Amino acid sequence: MKDSPITLIQPDDWHLHLRSGAALRSVVGMSAAQMGRAIIMPNLTPPITNTTQALAYQTEIMAALPAGCKFEPLMTLYLTDNTTPQDIRVASGLIKAVKLYPAGTTTNSANGVTNIGAIYPALEAMQKAGMPLLVHGEVAEYEVDIFDREAVFIEKILTKIVKDFPDLKVVFEHITTKNAADFVLASSNKIAATITAHHLLANRNDMLVGGIKPHYFCLPVLKRAKPHQAALLAAATSNSGKFFLGTDSAPHAKSDKESACGCAGIFSAHCAIELYAQAFEEQDAVDKLEGFASKFGADFYNLPYNTNTITLVKREWVVPNEYPLGNSTVVPFMAGKKLGWQLKTD
Ligand code: DOR
Ligand code: ZN
Repeated sequence: MKDSPITLIQPDDWHLHLRSGAALRSVVGMSAAQMGRAIIMPNLTPPITNTTQALAYQTEIMAALPAGCKFEPLMTLYLTDNTTPQDIRVASGLIKAVKLYPAGTTTNSANGVTNIGAIYPALEAMQKAGMPLLVHGEVAEYEVDIFDREAVFIEKILTKIVKDFPDLKVVFEHITTKNAADFVLASSNKIAATITAHHLLANRNDMLVGGIKPHYFCLPVLKRAKPHQAALLAAATSNSGKFFLGTDSAPHAKSDKESACGCAGIFSAHCAIELYAQAFEEQDAVDKLEGFASKFGADFYNLPYNTNTITLVKREWVVPNEYPLGNSTVVPFMAGKKLGWQLKTD
């Protein structure tokens, strides 16, 4: 019934940026309040390129959790031109996945991959180990329009990787276009995608009409309402196991966003599941939320579902204008706006 509480198997976040140090301590509790597990992105400075670093980072995350919080950080490695098959063999069993950032595409991607040929030996080892490749699916060439970078990545890079490694599991992260949704649907069951709440709820008008809104700037950048946002909404609510929740929540200090060269990233961990609930409700598809949020990602990663549940209640609340972020603050997605669903915390 409309407006009745929604109870779900506890969800997981299959794409999350937690940062480190004081920033990590500020934000990790917000994810842990909602999510059972999260795939933790490795784009720190310096990036997490080997298993030793990833395990140390995992320990740091666990130590930063508020007392009594249960949360499992699933670690990833940052792929470079120099990642070896031996690096993958060492990671196997300890590290959940490996992230491909084409160099120059996004925040802290400078050490990313410059030559796809160079990572073929690592991809071969990943295919053998059953370790998923997570892709930031954009090209970085200046000549390619920023709104076309995902589509060109599919054409020039992803199609070839998928063909050359038919058994490699691939998550096309934070898809933003109809091209990407169609590609994933037409591919084998080894290929899946995460979808963020902000790409479901916002489009490029939200970022650019009436003035530039730096807190709506992320990469891949928000696209057109039609056909792209509409295709993401259709994919997320389709009940296809190929699409699952990944917030790409990415905290940045307010001053770094509100700048002449504002950085990319939207912080949504404070109300991620509420945002997805709103998007699904607007599509009349609340009944499809549990698969997307709590089951399909676990299925893809061959993990059990969480055993506890969460409940969302229909109750209006206003998102705070800022949250602490180390000795700075972060402006959250939907700052100052009303949301209709709220996680029950008692
Ligand atoms: O908007 C983004 N921010 N996209 C990414 O791919 C990285 C992220 C970040 O780390 O801030
Ligand atoms: Zn990300």
